[in-house]
Amino acid sequence: MNAKTTTLPVPPVWSNITQHEVFPIATHDEIARYNFLANLNKHLSGVIAPGNRLAYEKRVKPRFQAEHGRDFQNRDEVRAEMKHDPYYQTWSALRRTTMEMRQQNGRTMTIRQAPELAEKVQKLNAGKATLVLNPDVKVPHYLTIMDNHCMPGSYHTELFEGDVSAAANYDTGLFVTTAGGLGKLTDGGGKAISQWLLSHHPDFKPRRILDIGCGLGHNTLPIAQAYPDAEVVAIDVGVPMLRYGHARAQALGIKNVTFMQLDAANTGFADASFDWIQTTMFLHETSFKAIHRIMREIYRMLTDGGITMHIEQPQYTPEMDLFEQTIRDWDAFYNNEPFWGVMHDIDPATLMAESGFNKETFFQIGVRAVNDLEDFTKPRPTEVEDYGRSAVWNVFGAWKK
Ligand SMILES: C[S@@+](CC[C@H](N)C(=O)[O-])C[C@H]1O[C@@H](n2cnc3c(N)ncnc32)[C@H](O)[C@@H]1O
Repeated sequence: MNAKTTTLPVPPVWSNITQHEVFPIATHDEIARYNFLANLNKHLSGVIAPGNRLAYEKRVKPRFQAEHGRDFQNRDEVRAEMKHDPYYQTWSALRRTTMEMRQQNGRTMTIRQAPELAEKVQKLNAGKATLVLNPDVKVPHYLTIMDNHCMPGSYHTELFEGDVSAAANYDTGLFVTTAGGLGKLTDGGGKAISQWLLSHHPDFKPRRILDIGCGLGHNTLPIAQAYPDAEVVAIDVGVPMLRYGHARAQALGIKNVTFMQLDAANTGFADASFDWIQTTMFLHETSFKAIHRIMREIYRMLTDGGITMHIEQPQYTPEMDLFEQTIRDWDAFYNNEPFWGVMHDIDPATLMAESGFNKETFFQIGVRAVNDLEDFTKPRPTEVEDYGRSAVWNVFGAWKK
């Protein structure tokens, strides 16, 4: 008999993450839980998820066709049928559970040591002009109405003045959802975009760079490392993310980033004040209205000859089949990402043209997360085998010309 087995690459171990000075201390069991969840996520996406296609083709679609005498017309119809299918229900429930368990593990770990974490962060931040907080900045309504991807308290909640446990939770837990695919510092996206710009536009020398919705700076720091002579400004509305992110940058020895508490839709920066404006996994967490406002603000803040780029999952297009859209849209319904579908339905070329960009300058590329073995400041010579560890993203952008 010719038995064929499929072997999936296992995720790296959680302890592989760089344990910087403000990184929380995990117990044996917390580490074991994170490792279990990262492996379960890998198994769910690599082995279980493909079965949804079979359930769709063999059961869900034929039943719909027989009942309605036609094909599905949109992904809402597909989801409405898929959610009655036991295979999809099992996959979906497991996926949701891994997220809930990630958050429980991370919140338990970080709340336990919240006072110590706050103290360490405070020491590293004290007296530094590169952390600028402004209590008048309001967290937009679209961020406060729910806990983003099941993260209790989302990005902005402080349990006491100076509490950074929300950010520390994010720092430890993203590993689980990405099955360790973003590297030791969870910075594979920022490295990838820097590598692309350095390789494709070696003469472009940005003096001022803005990273919008920087979070705790996972993807800001590689940009600052790739362009050490640039002044990098990283903005966010989540105070714990900014406090922790600034301390983390100090701990990692990266000093050319200023973290500021600002709303991207109304920053107060002067016209033409940045040469490169970046967002990474940010736009899908804002509302339809906010995306349009932010893009107009980006156009206003860019210098002539400047570039803006946005890292996200691929947009839904008429060419993407409805099943694929439905699976990709899971986060909108079951992972507290209410604007996920809204954002991925937007035509980015039209969005940018409406915000002022010349249509000719629009571009769309794919980048793969740079792994820890590569030097991201050098062009990628050929594809380096990384056994499926890296994530691949869609990037859209434009030049201001
Ligand atoms: C998924 S996190 C992405 C973090 C970061 N870009 C990264 O790559 O790790 C999205 C971040 O956007 C921030 N955010 C959402 N709306 C914002 C707004 N209007 N202005 C500034 N930051 C915002 C949230 O507080 C959160 O930290």
